[in-house]
Amino acid sequence: MAGDDLHAALVEDLIRRRGVVMLIGAPNTGKTTLARRIVAAAASAGRTAAYIDADVDQSTTGPPACIGLHLVGGPDDAADLHRADAMQFVGSITPEGLVLQQVAATAALVDRARREADLVVVDTSGVVSGVIGQTLKYHKTELCRPDVVVGLQRGAELDPIVGMLRRFFSGDVEVAPYDPDVRVPSPDARRAARTRAFEEAFAAPLQRWRVRSTVFAPTLPAGLDLNRLDGVLVGLQDGTGWCLGLGVLEYDGEALRVSTNAGEGMRGLRLGSMSIDLQTMEIGRIRLRDLMFGLD
Ligand SMILES: Nc1ncnc2c1ncn2[C@@H]1O[C@H](COP(=O)(O)OP(=O)(O)OP(=O)(O)O)[C@@H](O)[C@H]1O
Ligand SMILES: [Mg+2]
Repeated sequence: MAGDDLHAALVEDLIRRRGVVMLIGAPNTGKTTLARRIVAAAASAGRTAAYIDADVDQSTTGPPACIGLHLVGGPDDAADLHRADAMQFVGSITPEGLVLQQVAATAALVDRARREADLVVVDTSGVVSGVIGQTLKYHKTELCRPDVVVGLQRGAELDPIVGMLRRFFSGDVEVAPYDPDVRVPSPDARRAARTRAFEEAFAAPLQRWRVRSTVFAPTLPAGLDLNRLDGVLVGLQDGTGWCLGLGVLEYDGEALRVSTNAGEGMRGLRLGSMSIDLQTMEIGRIRLRDLMFGLD
């Protein structure tokens, strides 16, 4: 496969290092494929490796709307990065307005992974342009302190972000060519993959837990019409800063409940910025400020 030759020297170099490697690149430049290759090669070389999936839409590790950490147990374990050994809730599948949540979540997992692995590979989303993309990558670099940033370059699209990271940070920034064999999934295929991922996150048996209005972050304002919370995605939190899984709120006019298959040990619920219909897996966007304080 072309990719093997194109990135062989880069992979060899990276697995000799310790610390954090962050992969950046526009959508479909082969970031996830290269990340998988790096952790597999590291594991084969006897290193402990960790993979962090910072893409909240097309998730590799754990459910969408979350950032996931997979500790690579050995070479075989690198082929399937699906299992999340730890996760952080972001609450949306788009970065608009959620740079803080995405950056904080990624940094928390990098911090944990650094303590548990020789080499940590952070696979980021393809959002690399515009103010949002640049702000996201700037602050991810600031807080995750990657020893190396690898940019998969297609044309000149990464030049601004690479220039910015080189100017403002001291870690190495390496630019590698993207592999032209990478296939571009259609929007339909991406949507289907997202639907499958949510179906899996809400796989039966779902339990419906009654929840008090005091368990939320952010706190619900007094007098909030609870009908507004019906269908809102939430992250189930364990009380030590980690996310146990996803839930969806239901309000029937009397009781507020959360539907989830990850409720064991939950101590609190983080409100997401999206809704989801568990019958159709149709998603909608929510602005939390409007939800909590806006008028109908
Ligand atoms: N060298 C290659 N040869 C053939 N197919 C490849 C190669 N590299 C990647 N692919 C395929 O191309 C598709 C996109 O690659 P990949 O998921 O690694 O890109 P990405 O940059 O992570 O995309 P996204 O922005 O969606 O996260 C995948 O289906 C992958 O299997
Ligand atoms: Mg990817």
